[in-house]
Amino acid sequence: MTDVRTQSSTTNKVLGYPLNVWYVAAWDKEVTRKPMSRKVAGRPLALYRTEGGKAVALADACWHRLAPLSMGKTLAKDQIQCPYHGIVYNSAGRCVSMPAQETINPSATVPSFPVVERHRYVWVWLGDPTKADPDWFRTCTSWTPRNGQEMAKPSTPRATSSWCWTTSWT
Ligand code: FES
Repeated sequence: MTDVRTQSSTTNKVLGYPLNVWYVAAWDKEVTRKPMSRKVAGRPLALYRTEGGKAVALADACWHRLAPLSMGKTLAKDQIQCPYHGIVYNSAGRCVSMPAQETINPSATVPSFPVVERHRYVWVWLGDPTKADPDWFRTCTSWTPRNGQEMAKPSTPRATSSWCWTTSWT
């Protein structure tokens, strides 16, 4: 079975943004059980939280007729329902229910993107999911000098601090 997270590669090349990098998508408090839309690196996303509180990022376009999932509603567990005809997806972007259908078309998926929460932000990774390293954030807070420049390390990191880190762009 194909990993639905890798199906967006063609679209990503067209958009022309570096993709193998973590992008801030929202403040952590912005992402709730009510789906919201956010465009990151030219890519419309639907962000929401599962019942367990995990942040999820799916492409904001239903597999069926491209209706924005961000206008839908969350259901039990990790599911989100399209507002147009009611297809239900799980947090991996796989369809788990089609109204009036006994079987589910296996191609009924939407891209799902890796998400981490660090420093009060929700970060998304739009590129190759196998390269999305959530431990990268530990590196970026180590204040390693870059290009021979010594960086001043604040005694208490704050939301307004200047952060210096080496990007993971490839
Ligand atoms: S457009 Fe989403 S179910 Fe039809």
